[in-house]
Amino acid sequence: MTDLNSQKQAALEAIAAAGTLDALEEQRLAALGKKGWISLALKTLGQMSPEERQQAAPAIQAIRAEVADALATKKSDLESAELNARLASERLDLTLPGPDMPRGTVHPVSQVMDELAEIFADLGFAVATGPEIEDDWHNFTALNMDESHPARAMHDTFYFPESDNDADGNRMLLRTHTSPVQIRSMVAQGAPIRIIAPGRVYRSDSDATHTPMFHQIEGLVIDRGIHLGHLKWTLETFLKAFFEREDIVLRLRPSYFPFTEPSVEVDVGFEVVDGKRVLGGDGDAPGHGWMELLGSGVVNRRVIEFAGLDPDEWQGFAFGVGVDRLAMLKYGMDDLRAFFDGDVRWLQHYGFSPFDQPTLSAGVGAKA
Ligand code: PHE
Repeated sequence: MTDLNSQKQAALEAIAAAGTLDALEEQRLAALGKKGWISLALKTLGQMSPEERQQAAPAIQAIRAEVADALATKKSDLESAELNARLASERLDLTLPGPDMPRGTVHPVSQVMDELAEIFADLGFAVATGPEIEDDWHNFTALNMDESHPARAMHDTFYFPESDNDADGNRMLLRTHTSPVQIRSMVAQGAPIRIIAPGRVYRSDSDATHTPMFHQIEGLVIDRGIHLGHLKWTLETFLKAFFEREDIVLRLRPSYFPFTEPSVEVDVGFEVVDGKRVLGGDGDAPGHGWMELLGSGVVNRRVIEFAGLDPDEWQGFAFGVGVDRLAMLKYGMDDLRAFFDGDVRWLQHYGFSPFDQPTLSAGVGAKA
């Protein structure tokens, strides 16, 4: 018995000293394993006389219980120490500032389109869209440019092969302007109409001020008794809001578009400041000039007929303006091609923060 007691003492000390779960398991096997000293001691009970056994059995069981308890306690100590160590090493401090991630910007074309949508929404215009792959009926014929019309040749159109003609035998093409959305809106919703239609257009043309793809925004109003005065007021109101200047002066020049009659080319007065053209002021004043900005006119009655409306009841005006050009004039870029290079340095410089949402109350020109 004294032997067993000193073995127990040694075992309890070894258990207390075990630094890892593996070391502890070794101690468990040495005491309670098949050949462990406690298991062997229990086996000796069989050879004892009943009297001896009555004495020895409770004593060995007590030693066994004491060692098993010590093992269990030490095991849970080691396990919680291990868990704490893992929690400490995997700790994340959520109060630290976020890492400096690359941040994207809103492209000036998107920003200007949002500005225009905001300005025209305030005037009661909805935003309409149409397909970039158009048919020649919507892009030309319904806009009063039949197959032999010379204006078709001026559009430098990207055509699809004739094998791609639509079910009605119309030639497919990349739209050369946003004006086909005029036709689609009239056909789809009838009259009255007040829409703007921003989007991509395509012409086979390329230099510092022309790219094969660029952006236009179309405006269309159809109602009863619409005349040139409504057009002029609308353009003036829009350009003053867009350029955020009260002194925007327009000059309307007679022009020609097959789909408007009369047609009006609109020039805006500018001033030369530090060698740069700045919009504003009377173009005829000294040091000033006129810049051609957009095409517009009273919707040709033939176009209203093509779209299925009665031109004796419905009249309208329309305009089309280059969005990229508006962006260049407002934000001072001078090469259109850079708009579509995707150079992050250009985008960082000319792009806008997503937080700079144009609103009429906060201003439609918040610069990044
Ligand atoms: N569609 C014409 C263009 O691309 C612009 C325009 C639109 C002119 C509407 C008059 C009316 O040049």
